[in-house]
Amino acid sequence: MDISQAIRQRQSIRAYLDREVNRDTIKKILDTARYAPSGANCQPWQVAVVSGTTREIIAQALTSAFRRGEPEDHDYAYYPVNWQEPFKARRIACGMQLYQTLGIDRKDKQGRMQQWEANYRAFDAPVMLFFFLDRSLAIGSYMDSGMFIQSIMLAALEEGLATCPQAALSSYATLIKDILGYPQDTILLCGMAMGYEDKGALVNSYRTPREEVEHFTTFHE
Ligand SMILES: Cc1cc2nc3c(=O)[nH]c(=O)nc-3n(C[C@H](O)[C@H](O)[C@H](O)COP(=O)(O)O)c2cc1C
Repeated sequence: MDISQAIRQRQSIRAYLDREVNRDTIKKILDTARYAPSGANCQPWQVAVVSGTTREIIAQALTSAFRRGEPEDHDYAYYPVNWQEPFKARRIACGMQLYQTLGIDRKDKQGRMQQWEANYRAFDAPVMLFFFLDRSLAIGSYMDSGMFIQSIMLAALEEGLATCPQAALSSYATLIKDILGYPQDTILLCGMAMGYEDKGALVNSYRTPREEVEHFTTFHE
């Protein structure tokens, strides 16, 4: 698979087959992704690969925290509190596209909540990944981690695996760090669902749009 094809083909997948992923395959993906660049080659990433019983424990703990209406407990602000244009409109369009694809009406609060709740089970993917950063690091390491995470998603494609990066999996950071035994001062960046795509699932049937190059680029010659 060539690189541009992989970049264009990757999409967030929100329904998976009930099929385990071999540990060696995940190791191979991480073995490739570790060649991602990082400032001063500090390689700030720490990853927890979660499957089996621990995956079940986490999915149940997150789902019940969500159902209880527990306040979210993020280690950092991934999203702005006050969204400004053009980002606000894009965020709204992103949600609309998902709910329209699934035939969930704007006023169907319960339907939307149920779909959102699937986040806390990593959309039933057999593998959840969690990405951590040491608290002593600075903002640059968030960039490095993003490059590492994208590298994982592209390397996964080559193995026939699908992914969905998930901020939702970092909504209850204390709980995740407790279960996985990470120090509470570690920063939980985000999670990721990984598994084999359910190609027949409606939720996987749409593609998100992108702005044209001219809209975000200036050339200076
Ligand atoms: C760091 C990060 C966190 C995300 N968190 C979530 C999430 O919690 N739930 C979700 O369904 N999608 C999540 N997404 C997926 C985005 O909605 C998706 O990348 C975007 O709509 C573009 O679609 P595509 O990935 O299919 O190209 C996240 C993406 C990124 C990069």
